[in-house]
Amino acid sequence: MSDTNTNQTKKRILSGIQPSGALTLGNYVGALKNWVDLAATDEYECYFMLADLHTITVRQDPKVFRKNTMDLLALFIASGLDPEKNPIFFQSHVPAHSMLGWVMMCYTYMGELSRMTQYKDKAKKHADNLNAGLFTYPSLMAADILLYQADLVPVGDDQMQHLEITRDLANRFNNANSPTFKVPEAYIPKVGARIMSLQEPTQKMSKSDSNENSYILLLDPIDKTVKKIKRAVTDSGSEVKRGEGKEGIENLMNIYSATTGKTMDEIEAEFDGKGYGDFKSAVAEAVAETIRPIQNKYNDLMSNKDYLVQIYKNGAENANKTAMKTVSKVYRKIGFIQP
Ligand code: TYM
Repeated sequence: MSDTNTNQTKKRILSGIQPSGALTLGNYVGALKNWVDLAATDEYECYFMLADLHTITVRQDPKVFRKNTMDLLALFIASGLDPEKNPIFFQSHVPAHSMLGWVMMCYTYMGELSRMTQYKDKAKKHADNLNAGLFTYPSLMAADILLYQADLVPVGDDQMQHLEITRDLANRFNNANSPTFKVPEAYIPKVGARIMSLQEPTQKMSKSDSNENSYILLLDPIDKTVKKIKRAVTDSGSEVKRGEGKEGIENLMNIYSATTGKTMDEIEAEFDGKGYGDFKSAVAEAVAETIRPIQNKYNDLMSNKDYLVQIYKNGAENANKTAMKTVSKVYRKIGFIQP
């Protein structure tokens, strides 16, 4: 008998972001913004998670970690997620993640894990702390998704490989036992799936970059963000167009497209005959217009800590109910004695 059909009426979404530092424009455009848009359609039952268990695969200062986590919670809401409609929770508050994470580890092969590009990158960066969690990270991420029987997982394209392993693990478990997990699909946005560094436009924009001019942080002062955009690396030409050797301009076009809703063709037409200076001013203005209301809402929320506590408590309670149903099924199918 198939156990994947719960009494859900709507399709489910699960996604997460690590509170591993300040949120970048890449995280916002590649993930958070799409969560807000998808949730607003009312077609999905959504679960949004702060992936704090994942964050400790890299050593954290506890004080800074706590601050980053609360900041990110406030930013989720400030960006437009409605916690009344869709649970927002900390991964560490829902024990089912650790419980299914272990089971998934026992279904994941070493060879699969060693092919993960995120692992290879992080292993290089954190050679002094090459812990087992960094290696088995994708098993926990698979558990995060499968616990909620998610249909759709909205992420930036750097997470695609993790989504593929999640699908493989779901199929592997279903075949070895009986249908238990929904096999989820990735939702990668058409625009902004990979926002690049402003200084090295062939590299992904990342909060762990040592050059702070390479990324835009949602909570940076607006004038700082404007300066970073004006300093962004372009090329020796002068046309606002996509093409070979124009990665810097194309990246700014992507950012402009994601923040204004204009298509790449419309952007090329808008800036036909105009120079990079005009274009950068327009991008800076569009980004500022996007970020300003989020910052205002964030500031309001941070002065209402009790409300934030209520949000994450309710979120964990709801998430826990859904997630434990899956854990119970899995434990039964594996052959653990029912408690
Ligand atoms: P994380 O925290 O690194 O990134 C969060 C989201 O932001 C996207 N992203 C980007 N999108 C476009 N351009 C960029 N430069 C850029 N940088 C980051 C990421 O693709 C991601 O969607 N493993 C995940 C967290 C996670 C998760 C999950 C996600 C844990 N469990 C379950 C989905 C479902 C991560 O490290 O994302």
